[in-house]
Amino acid sequence: MTNVVSFERRGEIAVITVQNPPVNALSHAVRLGLGAAFDRAETEEGIRAAVLAGAGRAFIAGADIKEFGKAPQEPHLPDLCDRIEASPLVVVAAMHGVSLGGGLEVALSAHYRIADPGAKVGLPEVHLGLLPGAGGTQRLPRLTGAQAAIDMITSGRHVGAQEAKALGIIDEIASGDPVEVGVGYALRLLEQGAPRRPVSAMPAPAALDWDGVYDQVLRRGRGQIAPATAVRAVQAASEQPFAEGIKTERALFFELMQTDQRQGMIHAFFSERAVSNLPELAGVAPRNLAHIGVIGGGTMGAGIATAALLAGLPVVLLEMSHEAAEAAKARIAGNLAGALKRGKISQEQHDAILDQALTLATTYDSLADVDMVIEAVFEEMDVKKAVFAKLDAVCKPGAILASNTSYLDVNEIAASTSRPADVLGLHFFSPAHVMKLLEVVVPDDTAADVVATGFALGKRLGKVAVRAGVCDGFIGNRILSTYRTAADHMILDGASPFQIDQALVAFGFAMGPYEVADLAGLDIGWAMRKRLAPTRDPRERIGDYPDRLCEGGHFGQKTGKGFYIYAPGQRGGTPNPEVLDLITAERAAKGITPRTFTDAQIIRRYMAAMVNEAAKVVGEGIARRPLDVDMTLLFGYGFPRYRGGPLKWADITGLAGILSDIKDFAKEDPYFWQPAPLLEQLVSEGRSFDDLNKAAG
Ligand code: 3HC
Ligand code: NAI
Repeated sequence: MTNVVSFERRGEIAVITVQNPPVNALSHAVRLGLGAAFDRAETEEGIRAAVLAGAGRAFIAGADIKEFGKAPQEPHLPDLCDRIEASPLVVVAAMHGVSLGGGLEVALSAHYRIADPGAKVGLPEVHLGLLPGAGGTQRLPRLTGAQAAIDMITSGRHVGAQEAKALGIIDEIASGDPVEVGVGYALRLLEQGAPRRPVSAMPAPAALDWDGVYDQVLRRGRGQIAPATAVRAVQAASEQPFAEGIKTERALFFELMQTDQRQGMIHAFFSERAVSNLPELAGVAPRNLAHIGVIGGGTMGAGIATAALLAGLPVVLLEMSHEAAEAAKARIAGNLAGALKRGKISQEQHDAILDQALTLATTYDSLADVDMVIEAVFEEMDVKKAVFAKLDAVCKPGAILASNTSYLDVNEIAASTSRPADVLGLHFFSPAHVMKLLEVVVPDDTAADVVATGFALGKRLGKVAVRAGVCDGFIGNRILSTYRTAADHMILDGASPFQIDQALVAFGFAMGPYEVADLAGLDIGWAMRKRLAPTRDPRERIGDYPDRLCEGGHFGQKTGKGFYIYAPGQRGGTPNPEVLDLITAERAAKGITPRTFTDAQIIRRYMAAMVNEAAKVVGEGIARRPLDVDMTLLFGYGFPRYRGGPLKWADITGLAGILSDIKDFAKEDPYFWQPAPLLEQLVSEGRSFDDLNKAAG
């Protein structure tokens, strides 16, 4: 066969094994190899059954995603699946690890399926902006019924072996070497005289209220089209003969293949993996990380401690007083109760974490032995420096001293210690035990193995870690404050915060910027405005109506009132009419005649500001690659995954148009709308942000 598919004969059984590490993706060579292996099995004298298995860690993880967007090469996967199903042999799939996408579709083309107890199956194509395109939408519902198939296909979730058996996807569960398990099963089937059992010949699934299901899935997708489109494919399984249903599935698959959403999702898939892969860290071993300290047990400190404890790291938490330490423990206990409720930890683990793994402290000597300390005290330089001076005095040599500061200069913090090589920023996002993003902020003198340890911690905590340079706000908050400012300007000029939030949610953001501001606490922006006021350029336009809210003690969700009013026990808020009065008053005081903005205009300005600042962040080397910005916005700021990230969105939308918008806006406000040199350069060279990603390897 080919070197990616092996063929072995065991008496009357042909064993066909895919060997395409790391996850046996169905590349062109694998498809060719599988076809050839079945040809051989069917032509060799005396073979009655074929066992299909995967070598290494998985059965088959799906189509080879790297081939998407290129011209498809024969044999096409759906044809290969039909060819396997039509084999005169009894075909058994012996599954272990994951069988995903095309991998499960190949398995569904076998006549019988047996799986390891730890096996997982799924059709995750929607996460790539696609739907199953090799018969999955036609065969799965014939085994499970339409409702379960729709649940699996539209969520893309992985289903464990037990559930897969209960759903009728697999026939048997057995542990052991997949080839041996498969051969044993095939022998039993032959002995029993079990017939070939093509799924395509099974009865079509019963009908559902297709339009109702479609609408529901479309709404849930928040602008993502693939899941809803997949509903139509399953509908075809119910309404059309198998061969016609396959044609419908194929047509819908190719429709999705042409979409921007598919490009965005696949960019996100590869960038999510590339983001922590930094050439400068190749071969750099991280320092030992067995025990960590957290200073400050407020919102962030408690969240960071929870994340570490859930990842099995013991934590010493230092607070200013016993009362504050106990309050921090109560916050952590609250977080852990949530994890217990969601089944993430058992009662025993929960108790062990609180009673043994977490230690409370009020004196610095308790931190003498930890490998890393993460500081999460108040956002004030003097307070941080005082903490770092004490850490410098007590922590063992080689201990890493990290700050969770949102905006402060980590170089200045590092320089205030006698060991700047051991200092870095670890910027978590609230709630820190839930949000996936971790910015690893690298000051000038930090040692490479300290940076590597920051990334190792990120991985251990299940975070997406992004390298950021030092500047006001690093990657994410710096870009956030620019696009927030663009939104604030639109409010001064006539838009309402509620319209802006709605337009951006319709664009696909998890929340609008003013809902986010209420959630984060309006006091944060207020403090920042006060901090920056003395050095503010007089040309900068700034709305000060939110200060009036803060002066009245309204900080957003935590005080029950901000841009929105929050009734106790209710999710989400209702628009606060006082905000509109404050805005009207400020416009009048500034002599601004309000104008209207359409939702499309709001998005154009907001995105232009985001892309422009992101281009500056990349141009200045604060982010190494455009994809680092994309992943920051995706995992920390609710940017819609199906758009890939702001710079992928910019590539798809067209850089020249965005630059021309920025130049237009600059006619009104040349101070705010200064085009990023990198954006101008890319436009003049006819290159894209993705070209920069590729050039970075
Ligand atoms: N094609 C190409 N490469 C793939 C791949 C695929 N389907 N799946 C994983 N890889 C690569 C990853 O990019 C990564 O490469 P790298 O080492 O160079 O970064 C490597 O395999 C290992 O992957 P992970 O780091 O993600 O390893 P994990 O163990 O964490 O996860 C996995 C393994 C669960 C298989 C995960 O990679 C995954 O979910 N893969 C995608 C599965 C998928 O979406 N399949 C459907 C494909 S679409 C399809 O089949 C269309 C069909 O219906 C026609
Ligand atoms: P917070 O006010 O909720 O908690 C700060 C805690 O630090 C308090 O419990 C306080 O008692 C304790 N503390 C203050 N000085 C101390 C000292 N000298 N020694 C020991 N403990 C001390 O603040 P929050 O929101 O947790 O923020 C902490 C840090 O995290 C800040 O630097 C902030 O900028 C940053 N951050 C905040 C985010 C957020 O969304 N709240 C997000 C990311 C970073």
